[in-house]
Amino acid sequence: MGIIGLDTSGSGIGIPETMRERALAANALLHSREGAGSDFLGWVHLPSSIGDLELAAIGASAARLRAAAEVIVCVGIGGSYLGTRAVLEALSDPFRLLHRTQEGPVMVFAGQNLSEDYACELLDALEERSFAVIVISKSGTTTEPAIAFRVLKAALERRYGREGAAARIAAVTDRERGALRTLADEEGYPTFVIPDDVGGRFSVLTPVGLLPLAAAGVDIAALVRGARDMERATAPDVPFDRNPAAVYAAVRNLLYEQGRKIEILGSYEPKLQYVSEWWKQLYGESEGKEGKGIFPASVTYTADLHSMGQYIQQGERTLFETIVSVDEPQRRLTLGAEAKDLDGLNFLAGRRLSDIGRMAELGVRIAHLDGDVPNLRIVLERIDAYHVGALLYFFEKACGISGYLLGVNPFDQPGVEDYKRNMFALLGKPGYEEASEAIRARL
Ligand code: PA5
Repeated sequence: MGIIGLDTSGSGIGIPETMRERALAANALLHSREGAGSDFLGWVHLPSSIGDLELAAIGASAARLRAAAEVIVCVGIGGSYLGTRAVLEALSDPFRLLHRTQEGPVMVFAGQNLSEDYACELLDALEERSFAVIVISKSGTTTEPAIAFRVLKAALERRYGREGAAARIAAVTDRERGALRTLADEEGYPTFVIPDDVGGRFSVLTPVGLLPLAAAGVDIAALVRGARDMERATAPDVPFDRNPAAVYAAVRNLLYEQGRKIEILGSYEPKLQYVSEWWKQLYGESEGKEGKGIFPASVTYTADLHSMGQYIQQGERTLFETIVSVDEPQRRLTLGAEAKDLDGLNFLAGRRLSDIGRMAELGVRIAHLDGDVPNLRIVLERIDAYHVGALLYFFEKACGISGYLLGVNPFDQPGVEDYKRNMFALLGKPGYEEASEAIRARL
């Protein structure tokens, strides 16, 4: 297997020569920058273009924040949030908050909702802790993170004064444009730039993801190394069968053409739940347009076998499943035997939990195949920074290829603007007077 494995044997799809050629052509188009959305293809070569100096600058800023705070609040939404959260959750102990001693600061998130309760409870929690803030917004004007940052900045300034607050803030935003850029320059916050040619959902390997991840203690060099190796493994000169991104993109498009309109990304590892959330944005925003696109859904097994399992097994046959399967857990736990077998589990005594989980996974796969759910498997050797970096780039590359195969521009998101216009009109934002009248007439 390569850096990650891809098993399409359960998809029921034979890939015709024409599709192989189309997928390779789509990949070449990404590299030649001659396809739709070509102004937003900076992510294609990001892993190989991040230099040691850039990583060191990010590391230094992250170290400063780590030294200043017990809690780092990471503020952002969508592409300026999900990648960081995906990597952090994948690589973290889910019970870290219960540990008596913390190694470095805890990272929490804000700016990804407009909940008043969430904001108040966060402020309450920060009362007892020293904290720092990383604020991330490419446009610098997105409402949710801007509001959260205003609230957190005020809390920091009350506690540490204006200068003390500035020493505990870092901003990631556009080189020149946007309110966050103006604010950061005015207040003297250290800033990192999101390249113009990288869209939000493809930005996890820019400072958008790398700064907060370094601040949370993630080995970002290993993350980038994994992505870099995957960049090579999916380069345009790699033959179709050896390029997992091209194969995945081809198979999912062939399934879509056969009426499989929903793809469920699943895993048996709860740590990967936010990778699924990130993936949903990546594929949903990239492909869902012009009345087309596979609807991306997600499940975490075995929990969701007890909620979604029935539908997947016997509901409408318009879905297929892609399982991210992990070969080796990091830890080891073997089930013990008991003198009296009251719970009836002695037949499992001596077996590792991962071994029992593998049987569950296999059993589900066979059941779903019997239930006419085409199945793809992406195999990760283990969950570490290197393999997660490779997985992220794999999904990005496959998404670009897949969007071109579908015949859409995978790098814009015109539909996301519609709700914003209505919300601004309803809130009375200057410049939205006309829209405000129109929308009020409909209420
Ligand atoms: O992918 C996208 O472009 C969006 O999800 C954005 O990342 C999200 O809306 C946040 O935008 P910004 O970083 O400009 O605040």
